[in-house]
Amino acid sequence: MVRRLRYFLYRLYERFYEWRLGIFSDTEIFLDTYGVTDAACHQYIATSYIRFRQLMKLIDIRPGEDVFLDFGSGMGRAVVLAATYPFRKIIGVELIPELNERAVKNVQRALPRLRCRDIELHNVDARSFRVPPEVTVIYFWNPFSKHVLADVFGNIRQSVIESPRTVTIIFLSPPGVTSVDEIKDGLPWLAERRRFDLGPKSVAVIYTCEGDERKVRS
Ligand SMILES: C[S@@+](CC[C@H](N)C(=O)[O-])C[C@H]1O[C@@H](n2cnc3c(N)ncnc32)[C@H](O)[C@@H]1O
Repeated sequence: MVRRLRYFLYRLYERFYEWRLGIFSDTEIFLDTYGVTDAACHQYIATSYIRFRQLMKLIDIRPGEDVFLDFGSGMGRAVVLAATYPFRKIIGVELIPELNERAVKNVQRALPRLRCRDIELHNVDARSFRVPPEVTVIYFWNPFSKHVLADVFGNIRQSVIESPRTVTIIFLSPPGVTSVDEIKDGLPWLAERRRFDLGPKSVAVIYTCEGDERKVRS
């Protein structure tokens, strides 16, 4: 009974924020609906509103400086929510054209309520996206498995080598061994800073990645 009431309140909260922002992102879609059969690319399911607010409390945002990138941005919920914080710019990268088109519409509709209005949405496979030198915060809500992730982390590494800076990575995942844990031994330049249990369904891990190897080990 308590569980059902809690779930009801959670759903109410989700619907309320969809309505308030004027967006539609509250659905689950398997990628084979769009002809993608690569099991390494995970389904669409938005970050919950409550969860995203929890995640933003885990990092220090430098107002007007930090640039946020969501890998696997789907219908753009995390992009829109990030834009309610004082980021300088927000970037989304999404494989499926239909989801990205919906993200474009969602951003347009939410725009009057957003703090950051410099938003770019790219319809491209994350593996072939060059991480721009301005990006300082990267978000993943479990968008793909370890094989894709290894390539994407390689691109992040390349970006910090070319433009040395600290990049903070927020990795949200179902609990247990995450896709990053599975490849972590091959990423000695990636420093795990903190790991948070967010209830029975999720874990959030904060990593940093530096252009300067000496800082990684400190
Ligand atoms: C769990 S959803 C996250 C949605 C969004 N980040 C959010 O938090 O609301 C994962 C998304 O990753 C996308 N995705 C999967 N494989 C991808 C790839 N190789 N390149 C870019 N996006 C991908 C899926 O289409 C899906 O929209």
